[in-house]
Amino acid sequence: MNEKILKLMERGTKILGSKYAIMGGAMTWISESNLTSALSNAGLFGVLASGAMDGNSLREEIIATQQKTGKNFGVNIITMNPKINDLIDVCGERKVSHVILAGGIPEKGTIEKIHSYGSQAMAFAPSQSIAKRLFKQGIDALIIEGSEAGGHVGPLSTMILIQDILLNLNEYPIFVAGGILRGELVAGLLKIGAAGCQLGTVFACCKESIAHENFKKAYFRASGRNAVLPVQLDKKFNIAPVRALENIATEEFVQKQREVLQKFERGEVAANNGRLSLEHFWAGSLRRAVREGDTDRGSLMSGQIVELIKEEKSIQEIIDQILKEAESVLD
Ligand SMILES: Cc1cc2nc3c(=O)[nH]c(=O)nc-3n(C[C@H](O)[C@H](O)[C@H](O)COP(=O)(O)O)c2cc1C
Repeated sequence: MNEKILKLMERGTKILGSKYAIMGGAMTWISESNLTSALSNAGLFGVLASGAMDGNSLREEIIATQQKTGKNFGVNIITMNPKINDLIDVCGERKVSHVILAGGIPEKGTIEKIHSYGSQAMAFAPSQSIAKRLFKQGIDALIIEGSEAGGHVGPLSTMILIQDILLNLNEYPIFVAGGILRGELVAGLLKIGAAGCQLGTVFACCKESIAHENFKKAYFRASGRNAVLPVQLDKKFNIAPVRALENIATEEFVQKQREVLQKFERGEVAANNGRLSLEHFWAGSLRRAVREGDTDRGSLMSGQIVELIKEEKSIQEIIDQILKEAESVLD
């Protein structure tokens, strides 16, 4: 059973050290020790989100995860986190097998630092040229994530990234993310050369997710068209787009953006600090929704795949369905 799909997954499972080449993408405030360990224990590859953590809080979360699973899992580190070096040191100290760098293009030195601890380094690539550069710099695997995904996204859809990056750089291991749920699609992506897939939104509202009940219910009620990107007020002040379910927080973000933009124009805040304060807005707002259940003023980061997610399922149910659907299209 599942032999054909497991065979297709081999390239990815060798890299991840998991049973299935399916990663549970890191989600700030959601991908903590419970969800991460549950994903890895079910044979997937869990990824812990370090968000805005410092070294000490990350150490605690890694230890908690290691107490709940003996399987491999990754740690997601945001490259603009000023504590990035401490965080990598903690991953090294705790012998984390994979560090996944997100939110920017990592520097060569960062990849080397991860390798110096014997861990594998993964990152996101928004274009073919950046993908090539990262592989030249020694990155072990890449994730291409289309704009259908939940959370911070790039401008291009998964479909475009597949054709521009995956199909041209088949010799390298590339995982695909953004808008994936059905097993038939997972099988198709593996067949055309993907090392595996990364899913996020579906695990935000699975049984093992610690997200508040109100948060999960908002997802089950929503349709894909509700998962929108906020308006960008000024092209000169480039903000990272974040896909989330439309609510009061979406409007508050536009207001916050206006305030920061005005401060920037008056020379009261540097562009980078301005952007960082907008990042803090999202992180605080996401916490409000995930932990406190405030679905009006909290951020409901979600991918368009929410269209297909209508009820709370366990990780086991989700993976079983994916494998069954994948097998159905393999001969
Ligand atoms: C609520 C939420 C929070 C997220 N936070 C992060 C994060 O902290 N770091 C990161 O690299 N990706 C983050 N993501 C992206 C996911 O890891 C994953 O790549 C994405 O959800 C995959 O697309 P999908 O939502 O269509 O399945 C987040 C996604 C969601 C839905």
